Amino acid sequence: MKKIILFGGSFDPIHNGHLQAALEAYKNINADHLYFIMSYISPDNKNHKSTWEQRKKMINIAIKNYSFFSVSEIEKEDEEISYTYKNINYFKNKFPESELYLLVGSDQFNNFKNWKNYDQIEKECKIICFERENNFVNKEKKAILIKEPKVNTSSSELILNPDIKMMNEEVLNYINENSIYGIYRLEKEGLSERRINHCIEVANISKQIASSHSEDFQMKAYCAGLYHDIAKEIPIDKQIHYSKELLNYNDFPSWKVIHGPLGEYIMKRKYLFKDEDILNAVKFHTIPRSNPTLLEKIVFCADKISSRKHRETNYELIDLCISNLDEGYKTIFKINMESIKE
Ligand SMILES: [Fe+2]
Ligand SMILES: [Fe+2]
Repeated sequence: MKKIILFGGSFDPIHNGHLQAALEAYKNINADHLYFIMSYISPDNKNHKSTWEQRKKMINIAIKNYSFFSVSEIEKEDEEISYTYKNINYFKNKFPESELYLLVGSDQFNNFKNWKNYDQIEKECKIICFERENNFVNKEKKAILIKEPKVNTSSSELILNPDIKMMNEEVLNYINENSIYGIYRLEKEGLSERRINHCIEVANISKQIASSHSEDFQMKAYCAGLYHDIAKEIPIDKQIHYSKELLNYNDFPSWKVIHGPLGEYIMKRKYLFKDEDILNAVKFHTIPRSNPTLLEKIVFCADKISSRKHRETNYELIDLCISNLDEGYKTIFKINMESIKE
């Protein structure tokens, strides 16, 4: 009889704790296959911070070296509130000759009696449970206990403080370069609503200017635009202090615009961005260097366009940047110099 493990969760994003639990369960019962069942609308109605496709992509990246793991989209097909017993029915019909196992954490397991149709679940599958720290399993209940995953973290913690010891590096790069959780991070950095709206506008204009380039490059443009002002609302005395302490800048042409280099530092050190092109576009968006890259020019232009007081002619400037970025860059650079002089 084949043994199939079902492992449900948000996986928003998937991390090494999930993978360790899955592997441990797989080895423990000598299973044939394990399905990561993505939750669609869970009964506790917790909102997901990334889209269905993004979560699916992240799981697929993380499990690509394990042929015995796969993603199940069964909950999406149902589109109603998701219940575990429904998933079990589905798999029971699909694999009538197999033995089903349900992998859960001890927090969920101890709450088992509150699950819808839990007696049916208990009858139709065996439970494998990993004990979480501070949440030990009630030993009277029947479950196969497996070792606690060594990675003790939560997905939401990793969104704000990514750590490659706890998550797949390729998943993290995918998160960063595709701006997943980007707006959520800006909110948590304390940016005002006005500033976040400006960041979203700069991201959209940057992507628009990059529209003749590859989709990957457009995503990079969006990302650099979205994050460009991440350090802008840190109080100015702190910006200067951090820049001296952390960046070793003892002098800067204008401390008012140090948030460019400081933003790059935060993206690199805190959020572990790797893409130099994106990082430089953020670093040099306030004071461009003499030979700016394509992406640096795009973000500089998009930022200045978004910040203009007289917005009536913005579409003309965007069109100019799309058709001839060098001309657009020169024009916008000149307009900017004139407004500084004023
Ligand atoms: Fe800025
Ligand atoms: Fe800006």
